[in-house]
Amino acid sequence: MLISRFRDLGISCIGLMTLIEFFTGFSSLDALVTGLHYAIGSVALLLLSALSNAIVVLGNDSKEQCSHKPKLDPRPHSVSIVEFGAVGDGKTLNTGAFQNAIFYLNSFADKGGAQLYVPPGKWLTGSFNLTSHLTLFLEKDAIILGSQNPDHWGVTDPLPSYGRGIDVPGSRYRSLINGYNLSDVVITGNDGTIDGQGSYWWDSFLTHTLNHSRPNLVEIVESVGVVVSNLTFLNAPAYTIHPVYCSHVLVQNISAYSPPSSPYTIGIVPDSSDHMCIENCNISMGYDAITLKSGWDEHGIKYNRPTTCVHIKQVNLQASTGSAVAFGSEMSGGISHVLAEHLDIKNSFTGIVFRTAPGRGGYIKNIEVSSVEMENIHTAFIASGQYESHPDEEYDPSALPILEQITINNVVGVNITVAGSFTGIENTPFEFTLSEISL
Ligand SMILES: *[C@@H]1O[C@H](CO)[C@@H](O)[C@H](O)[C@H]1NC(C)=O
Ligand SMILES: *[C@@H]1O[C@H](CO)[C@@H](O)[C@H](O)[C@H]1NC(C)=O
Ligand SMILES: *[C@@H]1O[C@H](CO)[C@@H](O)[C@H](O)[C@H]1NC(C)=O
Ligand SMILES: *[C@@H]1O[C@H](CO)[C@@H](O)[C@H](O)[C@H]1NC(C)=O
Ligand SMILES: *[C@@H]1O[C@H](CO)[C@@H](O)[C@H](O)[C@H]1NC(C)=O
Ligand SMILES: *[C@@H]1O[C@H](CO)[C@@H](O)[C@H](O)[C@H]1NC(C)=O
Ligand SMILES: *[C@@H]1O[C@H](CO)[C@@H](O)[C@H](O)[C@H]1NC(C)=O
Ligand SMILES: *[C@@H]1O[C@H](CO)[C@@H](O)[C@H](O)[C@H]1NC(C)=O
Repeated sequence: MLISRFRDLGISCIGLMTLIEFFTGFSSLDALVTGLHYAIGSVALLLLSALSNAIVVLGNDSKEQCSHKPKLDPRPHSVSIVEFGAVGDGKTLNTGAFQNAIFYLNSFADKGGAQLYVPPGKWLTGSFNLTSHLTLFLEKDAIILGSQNPDHWGVTDPLPSYGRGIDVPGSRYRSLINGYNLSDVVITGNDGTIDGQGSYWWDSFLTHTLNHSRPNLVEIVESVGVVVSNLTFLNAPAYTIHPVYCSHVLVQNISAYSPPSSPYTIGIVPDSSDHMCIENCNISMGYDAITLKSGWDEHGIKYNRPTTCVHIKQVNLQASTGSAVAFGSEMSGGISHVLAEHLDIKNSFTGIVFRTAPGRGGYIKNIEVSSVEMENIHTAFIASGQYESHPDEEYDPSALPILEQITINNVVGVNITVAGSFTGIENTPFEFTLSEISL
């Protein structure tokens, strides 16, 4: 059932103008758009949706999220992890040293905050918690290594907006570096490294031997004023940087890498969080590079906290089996007011993806993706209403997601196999505006 229509608008301003209406019904535009791709060769392809007159007003300043930078004053107090007995030989377990140092530094929270300094060395640790008004600073050649013993990570409850772990039902392992209910927390350095040594977790995932869902590398929950910058993140067990229920988060000048074979590893995951800037990052992951989420089916609908006001700019992205930039599939709390621009996407399965399913509810709206270069990509754009994974049997199949006011413009691609694949959901129109796409 192909209900989509192509219509030549004959508008003269820039070459060929075509109207696409995506209405429903498990209609795949794959062949259509691919056909066009081959037909037009290098001519710019312009697609305008039915609602293109509704000018996308990126209210709430997604453009401004990267222009109001927090002031990072040096902390008045600093201690080295060595003062707490840590040994940087890559073998000694330093979880206690990290926990004790941070417990001590907590007493400076109302005195301008403090810095925990990590000198060059290999600092093996299990999970630990940050505290407010803390800077974790990794010197050049300082490497924090995640332990490969699951007993060193601990177990925590599922996030309320998900109702269960992502990999398996029930609880999940704690992340390596955690923040709960914090304000003013900075994770930075002079190009130090945080290495999750994720292979243990990838193997457990692939062999179905996980007792709880995999941990993330850095997870900050319900916090305000978070900066992650000037570091390299390697081999995350699952997500690399996961802000959940957070406001005012800046991720700047980091690189993140997990190997192509690592299952479902993701770089940055803004999740039910608002007022975020992600800029000047290099991310290369097994699955997605950047994914915006906001909760899963009835749990996300109930928690009702959107991801909104996000500006992503100047990022180099690679996503081996997933997408360089993805929205969903867990988007039940809504995703809106996102501007992603100046994206350099290479060697990825997909460029930009919108994922959802009946049961999700929520919305993805007021999204602008612009100034994108793509090279060696299987499929440039995907929208799919068929991500039919559900947390449990309690979801409401009549909770339909809304996708509207989504604009993609100014995209140039080299060696793109399929231009686009759009598959909707009956009774809920997906509305996209595509312009100046040259693939
Ligand atoms: C921005 O967000 C505030 C608070 O949620 C809301 O009151 C305001 O209407 C929003 N503005 C726009 C343009 O969306
Ligand atoms: C870390 O914080 C969580 C949530 O507040 C808490 O349950 C856990 O005990 C803390 N862990 C340590 C080692 O303090
Ligand atoms: C969060 O932190 C504030 C103070 O910073 C405190 O008043 C509140 O009780 C904390 N909430 C939780 C759930 O720990
Ligand atoms: C990026 O981080 C590196 C260290 O990791 C630093 O040398 C460089 O100056 C930073 N660049 C910017 C623009 O902050
Ligand atoms: C999972 O649970 C089983 C049975 O309790 C146990 O033998 C196994 O060691 C556990 N695996 C991990 C990774 O903790
Ligand atoms: C990153 O490092 C550069 C160079 O040291 C410094 O100027 C900048 O303030 C740092 N950025 C952040 C956000 O920490
Ligand atoms: C990202 O890659 C570019 C090009 O290789 C490099 O110039 C830049 O320093 C890298 N940035 C980071 C944060 O690693
Ligand atoms: C084109 O991209 C595909 C991946 O989509 C890659 O396998 C292939 O090597 C690329 N071809 C060239 C000539 O770079």
